[in-house]
Amino acid sequence: MTKSPIGGNRSGRKLGQKVKKGKLKASSRRWLERHINDPYVQRAQLEGYRARAAFKLLEIDEKHKILSGARRIIDLGAAPGSWSQIAAKVTNSSDADPRVAAIDFLEMDPIPGVRFLQMDFLDPQAPEKLKEAIGGTPDLVLSDMAAPTTGHRQTDHLRTMHLCEVAAHFAVEVLAKGGHFLAKTFQGGTERDLLNMLKQNFRQVIHVKPASSRAESVEMFLLAKGFKGRDAAASEEAAEDAAAE
Ligand SMILES: C[S@@+](CC[C@H](N)C(=O)[O-])C[C@H]1O[C@@H](n2cnc3c(N)ncnc32)[C@H](O)[C@@H]1O
Repeated sequence: MTKSPIGGNRSGRKLGQKVKKGKLKASSRRWLERHINDPYVQRAQLEGYRARAAFKLLEIDEKHKILSGARRIIDLGAAPGSWSQIAAKVTNSSDADPRVAAIDFLEMDPIPGVRFLQMDFLDPQAPEKLKEAIGGTPDLVLSDMAAPTTGHRQTDHLRTMHLCEVAAHFAVEVLAKGGHFLAKTFQGGTERDLLNMLKQNFRQVIHVKPASSRAESVEMFLLAKGFKGRDAAASEEAAEDAAAE
């Protein structure tokens, strides 16, 4: 069970630490203070995860059970790698029998059992390369991709939404029947067309915000469970078209 670290400090490091005023800009000092005092950051260090993001996936899984039973997992926007660490563990992935493929345009230190591609997911070659790397049909596609910030809020928002949309189409192209798709999105930002497409292809589509996703952040996750399979979705679409004619 994932216990909320809020209120407890199991790393032995004190919370409420201040960073001395010095050469840092006030905004950088505030970021650093928030980081070192964040109980999820401390717990990630203690439990050997590369990022506090690990707890977002674990908390979502605790409620929605998407990891158990996954045999192959694709992790989009994987660096520094905490979701890939979890994916490798739950799939029993090893270098001899890899069951996790991950992509990021940033470097990522190797994780046993994870085949990592350092490239842009929006590169037209990325989908094929990921399919080759996973070496079988995935039953879970994860995307924690967020576009690098430009400082212009609306542009950042639109770029991340675009990544979510491309990831969703990729998931529908590769997932095994019954598989799941989880992707980062923004509050109020999911396009109606994207939601409709997911509802057509999955049995359940919901938005989730785990406790470890900072309350002040507009970050949300879109969870699509139970992929109907490419044939089922195509025949549903044909039936809807016929009904509309
Ligand atoms: C929030 S971080 C992911 C953290 C990760 N889930 C973990 O647990 O360590 C988002 C990542 O998405 C990556 N990213 C954003 N746009 C991308 C793109 N077009 N292609 C590949 N990676 C991308 C960023 O480089 C960044 O490393």
